[in-house]
Amino acid sequence: MSGGMRCRLLWLALQLLSCGSRLAPSCPCQDPALCEPIAGPRDFEVYVFDVGGQNWKSYDWSQVTTVAVFGKYDPELMCYAHSKGSRVVLKGDVLLKNIVDPKNRTDWITQQLDLAKKQFMDGINLDIEQPVIKGTPEYYALTALVEETAEAFHREIQGSQVTFDVAWSPKCVDIRCYNYTAIANACDFLFVMSYDEQSQIWTECVAGANAPYNQTLAGYDDYISRNIDPKKLVMGVPWYGYDYKCLNLSEDHVCILHKVPFRGAPCSDAVGLQVSYRVMMKQIKSSMSGRLWEDQQKAPFYEYKDAEGIAHQVWYDDPKSISLKAEYVQKLGLRGIGMWNGNLLDYSDDPEAKQQTEAMWKALRPSP
Ligand SMILES: *[C@@H]1O[C@H](CO)[C@@H](O)[C@H](O)[C@H]1NC(C)=O
Ligand SMILES: *[C@@H]1O[C@H](CO)[C@@H](O)[C@H](O)[C@H]1NC(C)=O
Ligand SMILES: *[C@@H]1O[C@H](CO)[C@@H](O)[C@H](O)[C@H]1NC(C)=O
Ligand SMILES: *[C@@H]1O[C@H](CO)[C@@H](O)[C@H](O)[C@H]1NC(C)=O
Repeated sequence: MSGGMRCRLLWLALQLLSCGSRLAPSCPCQDPALCEPIAGPRDFEVYVFDVGGQNWKSYDWSQVTTVAVFGKYDPELMCYAHSKGSRVVLKGDVLLKNIVDPKNRTDWITQQLDLAKKQFMDGINLDIEQPVIKGTPEYYALTALVEETAEAFHREIQGSQVTFDVAWSPKCVDIRCYNYTAIANACDFLFVMSYDEQSQIWTECVAGANAPYNQTLAGYDDYISRNIDPKKLVMGVPWYGYDYKCLNLSEDHVCILHKVPFRGAPCSDAVGLQVSYRVMMKQIKSSMSGRLWEDQQKAPFYEYKDAEGIAHQVWYDDPKSISLKAEYVQKLGLRGIGMWNGNLLDYSDDPEAKQQTEAMWKALRPSP
């Protein structure tokens, strides 16, 4: 063998080695089998958004089917979820004006796919909450993005899941005038964000529930009336509430709000502050009202005075209001239920907190 030949062979071997390691990043799990994608279908989805931290370890893993990673990627979470047969998916967000161009769109999808593969993930959650007007280039590009992302993921990662987050109603809420029917057809399912339902208040500017019962259910009726299969819909419930500072709080609990416009509406929940269930359950104990129930909206609320003596009204969801909505998941035959977000409960060892946290997880699957 000549020196030149040996050299070429060595070069070839090195190429193969580096190429091999590029194709197969090493598996971070103790059991390499846990890096395989989760391929099997699940009859009922319990979809959890995780925003980071460590308390995912305390989730009710007997229920969780998918974790959408919105925080920093944690290989330990991936290995653990896979050991429970649960999927772990990427967050996908991109400026729509940049993906009107088909080449740019393909590049973005390729990047997401490479990242998902490198991290042994099972799909992607498209969280594009941008305003879009019907018939614009962005309108068509958005549908194409979902179609092309689903096609690429399904082709390249066996059994992978591609989902899309939508507002509580398809009726151009927050100027999100998307082609919902086409988007639902293209992906595995829509995650319906049945919360922030006061983002556009067109009537009286007063505080109300984050996810009123009737308004929430009307949203599902509207999706289904657009020929969307109920099995393409997962109901999202909030594990947070809104704290509103009242300009005036009447004895019959009418909390008048300062007007903050949002996407064309004169008044919005943007004037309130989002608060976790964990924090509210502590605050309610020292509130002036304790837990109150509003039967039209079928939601709990409480009232307190801040250090400056200003009255606040806090609207939230608890096991009672969530299980009422969750019953509708069964009744309509939806694909499942989920929440924003899994990290918002108190996972400490405090006995009262433990009980509250367990009740919130249980409310997702009310017994008939
Ligand atoms: C492609 O995307 C980049 C950002 O990723 C953007 O700067 C550029 O303007 C886009 N090009 C087109 C033609 O949309
Ligand atoms: C929306 O998508 C559906 C299904 O793909 C299609 O038939 C319809 O023409 C689209 N609507 C618009 C306004 O483009
Ligand atoms: C403000 O609250 C007070 C005390 O409850 C009530 O008497 C009054 O009618 C309210 N004013 C308005 C404008 O709602
Ligand atoms: C909620 O919907 C039900 C059934 O459509 C209706 O009877 C009821 O009056 C509604 N309640 C409110 C507060 O809108």
